[in-house]
Amino acid sequence: MGRKDHTSRRGDHGSPSEPAPLGNPLDFIQEDHLREREICNLIVRIAEAEQPDPDDISVVASFFSHELPPHLADEEQGLIHLLARRCRPEDEIGPLIARLDADRREAREEMAGLLALLNGAGADGFAFGDDNRARLRRYAARARRQLILEYAIILPFARLRLTAADLDALRRDMLARRGLDQLMEGKK
Ligand SMILES: [Fe+2]
Repeated sequence: MGRKDHTSRRGDHGSPSEPAPLGNPLDFIQEDHLREREICNLIVRIAEAEQPDPDDISVVASFFSHELPPHLADEEQGLIHLLARRCRPEDEIGPLIARLDADRREAREEMAGLLALLNGAGADGFAFGDDNRARLRRYAARARRQLILEYAIILPFARLRLTAADLDALRRDMLARRGLDQLMEGKK
């Protein structure tokens, strides 16, 4: 069975979407979170399948390689800094940011190992051992917890506290990160 072609569109576990040149960058981050939730479902499916589907493995490996790194950079280099600057003391956002940072560091380390595991799986369907299935489940569980925090607290505070100039800067950085900043210049 061959590997899946990743030129397919989002919605069938295919490729990432692109930030809209003039859209709200927080909407794009939200869309990335929906995508990440789909990927968590695939990871659990891989962990539980007697013979994991090579297409599932390929989609998750591609997500780790190409989609997750720019999303993490959008948050770590952009969103989180802006939030830390704009949130008020009564928001008590500091401890949450620290916890997310720690979770992310662990997830990043684990992701490298999981990527090697997935890339090493045979194209004809490789049955993972119990220890690796447990690693996959653990990763998905942590990512889901993180998504809940981001959905319930981080993005609502961002929508409340970030200024129009903050959103503009965030959007420009996200476009530049994906090589799409020229597109925005063309829209002016
Ligand atoms: Fe996120």
